[in-house]
Amino acid sequence: MAAVVALIFALAMFPVSSPVSALSSNYYSKTCPKLETAVTNAVKKAMKNHKTVPAALLRMHFHDCFIRGCDASVLLESKGKNTAEKDGPPNISLHAFYVIDNAKKAVEAMCPGVVSCADILALSARDAVALSGGPTWDVPKGRKDGRISKATDTRQLPAPTFNISQLQQSFSQRGLSMADLVALSGGHSLGFSHCSSFQNRIHNFNATLDIDPSISPSFATSLRHVCPAHNKVKNAGATLDSSTTVFDNAYYKLLLPGKSLFSSDQSLLTTPKTKALVSKFARSKSAFENAFVQSMIRMSSITGGGQEIRLDCRRVN
Ligand code: HEM
Ligand SMILES: *[C@@H]1O[C@H](CO)[C@@H](O)[C@H](O)[C@H]1NC(C)=O
Ligand SMILES: *[C@@H]1O[C@H](CO)[C@@H](O)[C@H](O)[C@H]1NC(C)=O
Ligand SMILES: *[C@@H]1O[C@H](CO)[C@@H](O)[C@H](O)[C@H]1NC(C)=O
Repeated sequence: MAAVVALIFALAMFPVSSPVSALSSNYYSKTCPKLETAVTNAVKKAMKNHKTVPAALLRMHFHDCFIRGCDASVLLESKGKNTAEKDGPPNISLHAFYVIDNAKKAVEAMCPGVVSCADILALSARDAVALSGGPTWDVPKGRKDGRISKATDTRQLPAPTFNISQLQQSFSQRGLSMADLVALSGGHSLGFSHCSSFQNRIHNFNATLDIDPSISPSFATSLRHVCPAHNKVKNAGATLDSSTTVFDNAYYKLLLPGKSLFSSDQSLLTTPKTKALVSKFARSKSAFENAFVQSMIRMSSITGGGQEIRLDCRRVN
């Protein structure tokens, strides 16, 4: 009893500096036991109509976690003078926000004001992978939603033109290792890229070469066909791997012979350690899946400055 009183006293005295509690798998087991089924159903339903939903959800979660930690900042709308993250420059592929809205609506109907949008997004990303033939895992939960979202923050995202040292820096700033970098790049097993994201490799590569010599010549030819130098076709681009709606290790198999889209993908072959991991994941789907799961849990546990359980994922309370 005395301890409880002391704890209540401490919380009352230091409400702001109270430590962010660690995430846990059973966080909502009492307060919202049917949470995960509701989220899975929302993702399943959306996937039936839109094949690109899983890729969108996985990328959305990545963006969320890399900016201000996993705090659902990516979901907020611009308001007044503030331009939000989702209206920042590399937003070209962000879509399917409606899936999170639908999941949130279903969850609010069952357990109002209890589950954060950041947790719903983390669960949706897991479901996106699992429902695309990839592995599944227990998602640690208990994230809080943030109140800040700024378009200028998207400069902190790694760019597709990054080399290995720039990628290493971007990941290590967030507590992620080179092994995490290689495993998480396997997210490029799903989805699509616009020409602008790999244009640097197929036209005017540098002062002497038009095409990045590390790209397979036949692959470069096909990319130049869909993405000519002065591309006028809106939404032209290429799939990130050969099986764009199936979560598998094809990305690594294509990466080895120079058939990946981004300089950042290709750069994984430029150090012995990362190249060895690429080869390992190309050989073994299960080695990739195990590593991906561990790294996803690490990425999705990047702490944000969130403080609230947002009622509408697009607006602060
Ligand atoms: C390593 C640094 C990374 C870079 C530089 C990068 C860059 C990009 C770029 C440029 C696109 C295409 C955007 C467009 O033109 O439409 C893309 C798409 C995508 N990325 Fe990454 N990415 C990285 C890491 C990740 C991670 C960690 C994940 C998730 C685990 C991820 C998942 C995806 C997915 C699923 C898509 C396809 C989106 C869609 O089709 O809607 N990426 N990425
Ligand atoms: C991306 O940003 C532009 C403006 O910068 C905005 O018009 C567009 O709606 C944004 N896309 C998404 C998916 O939010
Ligand atoms: C990566 O790019 C940065 C910035 O352009 C450069 O300073 C660095 O030397 C490059 N590193 C490698 C390994 O190419
Ligand atoms: C162009 O890129 C190639 C391959 O990376 C390199 O060998 C060459 O030195 C580069 N040329 C210039 C002018 O930077």
